[in-house]
Amino acid sequence: MTRLTRPDLDRLPSYIPGRAIPGAIKLASNEVPYGPLPGVVEAIAEAAAHTHRYPDMGVVALRDKLAEHYGVPAERVGTGCGSVAMAEHLARATCGTGDQILYSWRSFEAYPIIAATTGAASLQVPNTAAHGHDLDAMAAAVTDRTRLILVCNPNNPTGTSLRSAEIDRFLDALPGNVLVVFDEAYREFVTDADVPDAMERYQDRPNVVVLRTLSKAWGMAGLRVGVIVGSPDVVATVRKVITPFSTSSVAQAAAMTALDQVDEMQRRAALVISERGRVLDAVRQLVPDVPGSQANFVWLPLGEDSAAFGASCEAEGVIVRAFPGDGVRVTIGTPEENDAFLATAQKALSR
Ligand SMILES: Cc1ncc(COP(=O)(O)O)c(C=O)c1O
Repeated sequence: MTRLTRPDLDRLPSYIPGRAIPGAIKLASNEVPYGPLPGVVEAIAEAAAHTHRYPDMGVVALRDKLAEHYGVPAERVGTGCGSVAMAEHLARATCGTGDQILYSWRSFEAYPIIAATTGAASLQVPNTAAHGHDLDAMAAAVTDRTRLILVCNPNNPTGTSLRSAEIDRFLDALPGNVLVVFDEAYREFVTDADVPDAMERYQDRPNVVVLRTLSKAWGMAGLRVGVIVGSPDVVATVRKVITPFSTSSVAQAAAMTALDQVDEMQRRAALVISERGRVLDAVRQLVPDVPGSQANFVWLPLGEDSAAFGASCEAEGVIVRAFPGDGVRVTIGTPEENDAFLATAQKALSR
């Protein structure tokens, strides 16, 4: 058969989305369970009437609104179809064939896919025994072909986080021509004051870019709005490689409304944070060495038992995310959903 696509992509693992089974409790995709923020559904309905027109390609109103929300100039802000797409655009803007993208592993499963599709090599540095990034080893792994470093803070799927002093040291150790991306998809759930907001702390470093998303705490996963904040030059280049019109008009309208709901977003995030503490306490009675989490999920390092545990939960109507041979990630849901998960976990682990 005539080959029509790149042979190197045959080896590429497909992105595995959290499964959704009608009637089951879905704790597999790190969504917030409380529905769209107030006013968002109405904003979508209103925007729907104009969907025969292209969206504003410059995303002017939303960029301005995000800039105001984050307290940065609009020229430092870019948006696109989810932060995962923004990470891919950053890779495209920095790497060519033979260049390297460095990241900790295990981390967000999109990173190897992003590297491979860009034609860059993945340089993976193993997580520490405590399931977090090993920043010293990452700094030591940088070569003259390394163009991009992805730092996931808090880390998906382990929930671990990096603190200011260690990140300062890491950034100081790097050559200035490597772009460092802080993927802060879960920033709104961080309660540890020592885990920095990279946008704020590193805004004077031109080689630092921050990724944020409206998918998680802002409840807009289905609408796909991702954000980069970085130096104006980097942001301008990334905006050139973004697929045109990829922040849809409906997503722009919804985001404008969602961003007016900061108090409600924070109230919901606080519910998740409080449940996170309760779930962590409970699972630590069942599973050894569960790391702390600053995100809206917890990590159960079940090793070889992970796949079986995931299947047991699913059989009981609770969908979690198992990474076979490694661990299981469980999203924090409503108190009732978390109770159902804990009952299931207790049953599965006492077998
Ligand atoms: C670390 C991390 N970054 C980015 C994303 C993707 O977010 P988005 O929906 O904005 O593409 C996720 C989603 O799971 C994530 O865990």
